[in-house]
Amino acid sequence: MNRFYITTPIYYVNAEPHLGHAYSTVVADVQNRFHKLMGDETFFLTGTDEHGDKIVQAAERLGMSPREYTDRISGKFRNTWPLLEIEPDRFIRTTRPEHIKTVQLALQKVFDKGDIEFREYEGLYCFGCERFLVERELVDGKCPDHKTEPTRLKEKNYFFLMSRYQDWLIDHVKANPQFITPERYRNEVLSFLKEPLDDLCISRPTSRLTWGVPLPFDENFVTYVWFDALINYLTGLDYPDGDRFKKFWPAANHVIAKDILKPHGIYWPIMLKALGLQPYQKLHVHGYWKTKDEKMSKSLGNIVKPEWLVKKFGADATRYCLMREMVFGLDAGFSQESFVTRINADLANDLGNLLSRSLTMLFKFRKGIIPQRRGTSGPHTELEDAFRQLVPSWQESMETFQIHKALAETWKVLNMANKVIDKSAPWELAKHESKQDLLDDVLYNLMETLRMAAVLLSPVMPEAAGKIMQALGLDSGDNLSKDCLEFGRLSPGAQASKAKPLFPRIGPSKKQVREKSPDRPKKQKQKIEVETKKDKDDFITIDDFQRVELRAAEIIEAEQHPNADRLLKLTVRAPEKRTIVAGIAEHFKPQELVGKKVAIVANLKPVKLRGIESRGMLLVAKDDKGLHLLTLPDETEPGSRIS
Ligand code: MSP
Repeated sequence: MNRFYITTPIYYVNAEPHLGHAYSTVVADVQNRFHKLMGDETFFLTGTDEHGDKIVQAAERLGMSPREYTDRISGKFRNTWPLLEIEPDRFIRTTRPEHIKTVQLALQKVFDKGDIEFREYEGLYCFGCERFLVERELVDGKCPDHKTEPTRLKEKNYFFLMSRYQDWLIDHVKANPQFITPERYRNEVLSFLKEPLDDLCISRPTSRLTWGVPLPFDENFVTYVWFDALINYLTGLDYPDGDRFKKFWPAANHVIAKDILKPHGIYWPIMLKALGLQPYQKLHVHGYWKTKDEKMSKSLGNIVKPEWLVKKFGADATRYCLMREMVFGLDAGFSQESFVTRINADLANDLGNLLSRSLTMLFKFRKGIIPQRRGTSGPHTELEDAFRQLVPSWQESMETFQIHKALAETWKVLNMANKVIDKSAPWELAKHESKQDLLDDVLYNLMETLRMAAVLLSPVMPEAAGKIMQALGLDSGDNLSKDCLEFGRLSPGAQASKAKPLFPRIGPSKKQVREKSPDRPKKQKQKIEVETKKDKDDFITIDDFQRVELRAAEIIEAEQHPNADRLLKLTVRAPEKRTIVAGIAEHFKPQELVGKKVAIVANLKPVKLRGIESRGMLLVAKDDKGLHLLTLPDETEPGSRIS
């Protein structure tokens, strides 16, 4: 029996789960379900990475102990995955005793082999990266990621002597073209390996960090980051003695994004070699989800929360969009609009309509009973041929993680089926006694198309696949197998049932309708976008807050905006004179505002609102009774900073 072991990165608990984490985890779940469908024995591992300075700091900021904090965020990851129908076999946490034991065992083995050395090191340490940087990594003397100058530190530490295995790794990557895929990332690893490898610092003195795994050979040091995190892939299988380890390690497949290519493409195979283990089978590397051309990440404050997507679109549709909108290996832009367009076109229209039209005809012409096949030919026979070609190519695309391609090809056949209905016009066939055999075959092939589609889509949309199966009078799909991929297996005589619409169309939300109404200021649009990206209970850091410049201002003139009923044009001193266009005309008369000292956001990017440039925003409080101006005492100097 074939085996398949699939893992995701274990996610840092300094941020809550977002769409980027969800993508990797859905890919792994889709692969797990696909391999199960093909009859493989599978194991699927995900979890959280919980040691290090950053975690201690994040906990401190919230007044929690690291333990309380990691329990909380790790719990959020664990609870998010079922919402997306993600079903891992094991959820691993690096702070659990079984993992700590495994890390210590691995460290001791590598130490005993002589691949770990204790030495003094003086170097440039970046506190953001939590590691020493080498000169050639710096840009203008600064860390390229954190834009800060590293600090010169002299410290004794333990080093993993990676350079010993550099030639071995080059040979392994060259001899195994599929070891790192897609190819662009294999090339990237080979080009890293052209430079001599630096030895990897794997320890921190306990005087500087205690939230890590104590070194088994020196109690004054802990390890964290890669020597801790990567070992999770072994702990997950109960290394060294577990049956699972023996069964699944040879079939190890890791999914990651390109941010952690170096640790997975270089450190990890070398660590495995030093441990005397065979390398993982394959590393599958994907690109970034971006919003407005920037990588989605907590620190940039542009995240989309998975639970928000599920609430809005449902789990299946979210999984479908994630898989369909990103070409594995390349970056993809996220926008709510592109998801809505996909759902309406592909799911509500192509797939949903095919199901409802086909079932309606089956009920109208055959009382909902699957007909016998009669062997006639016509446009419907194209479908059988199409599946014969589709199945092997779908299988190859799924095996090589080109899930978007597997879906696109499946949709070609669904669209063909919609055309077959139009071409063969079952409602005309039904009128003629002599065309009943043909009608049986058209209906049978349509039902069979739906069944085949359900099987092919089941790894990506398990719930919808189950509903289609049930509508065709079959089991909901838990015991699907490879054999189900043969056209013609649907048994005649079964009673179908009428299904509710699989994927209702998504119309514009009330907010979006309001946004489009002609006399709403454009500001509304900005507000809606922000709401989708930041949840109300999301934390911001003090740095985020300090980017907003709040100032006192005095309103010196106020008048109705000439082109919009809801807007007022205000002239304020803050201390310089500036114009602010505010959407408050329904709540305040211009004359009652003049002379008031108010609070404004002073560093908003200027925008033109209905022809007048607005530089800043007025702060108000809003409740059921309306808007209340945030006024300041008369003696406040215009322009003074509010903090
Ligand atoms: N803890 C380490 C990984 C250790 S694995 C032994 C880590 N954690 S992380 O929380 O930063 O997660 C990084 C991973 O999250 C990426 O490799 C990717 O799988 C996923 N993503 C995070 N942001 C992403 C995007 N914007 N786009 C796509 N995937 C992203 O690194």
